[in-house]
Amino acid sequence: MFNLILFGPPGSGKGTQSDKLVEKYGLLHLSTGNLLRGEIACETTLGNEAKNFMDKGQLVPDSVVIGIIGNCLDQHKEAKGFLFDGFPRTVAQAVALDKLLELRNTSIALVLALEVGEEELVNRLVNRGKTSGRSDDTDEAVIRKRFAVYENETAPVAGHYQKAHKFQSIKGEGTVDGIFELISEAIDKRIEQKV
Ligand code: AP5
Repeated sequence: MFNLILFGPPGSGKGTQSDKLVEKYGLLHLSTGNLLRGEIACETTLGNEAKNFMDKGQLVPDSVVIGIIGNCLDQHKEAKGFLFDGFPRTVAQAVALDKLLELRNTSIALVLALEVGEEELVNRLVNRGKTSGRSDDTDEAVIRKRFAVYENETAPVAGHYQKAHKFQSIKGEGTVDGIFELISEAIDKRIEQKV
């Protein structure tokens, strides 16, 4: 089983690259942002609770997202590997993910972090906000808040995986295909090392 985390700030291209990676490597894509937006669209209790945090650019509580991921892992026992996108976002989530995977006799193979400058990120998200319908993309103040949350709460997750020698940075600016090539090279190298 090959489990990958695509890491990086809001707008760094995690979702865009995930679509291509799923096609190439057959991994099961788990995006906590998409799962939470699905709950909001269905107007579930969980969705209504999550919306309050997401609209303000804040993180949804750890217990909620860890529960969602645990359920997904149970529902997809046949998966040949998982691609985590937007999770883990706190050190507590990373520790919980390690435990969830250990219980299933597997682990994270690689964490790839997309590096993109803040002004490029703002431009991408403001542009996406014109058509995406995402409430957290339409207000630049909320976008900036998401970056602050990323710096304070999510960036420390990198250290967790650096200690385990699983962390690698990838230049996330340039063409989508060019970045995909760099990501694929890193994955193929890690797969070879494991053989
Ligand atoms: P989430 O849905 O995860 O959003 P995000 O991390 O803010 O990331 P985005 O989806 O905005 O960006 P992305 O990196 O996927 O980039 P994309 O490919 O879309 O989370 C939303 C909210 O949910 C959070 O704020 C939080 O409240 C909650 N949440 C989610 N997970 C949570 C968790 N684990 N714990 C707690 N709360 C959680 O690209 C962005 C744009 O750029 C697109 O328009 C794209 O077309 C464009 N683009 C992509 N690549 C390029 C390129 N190379 N050049 C130019 N443009 C590009």
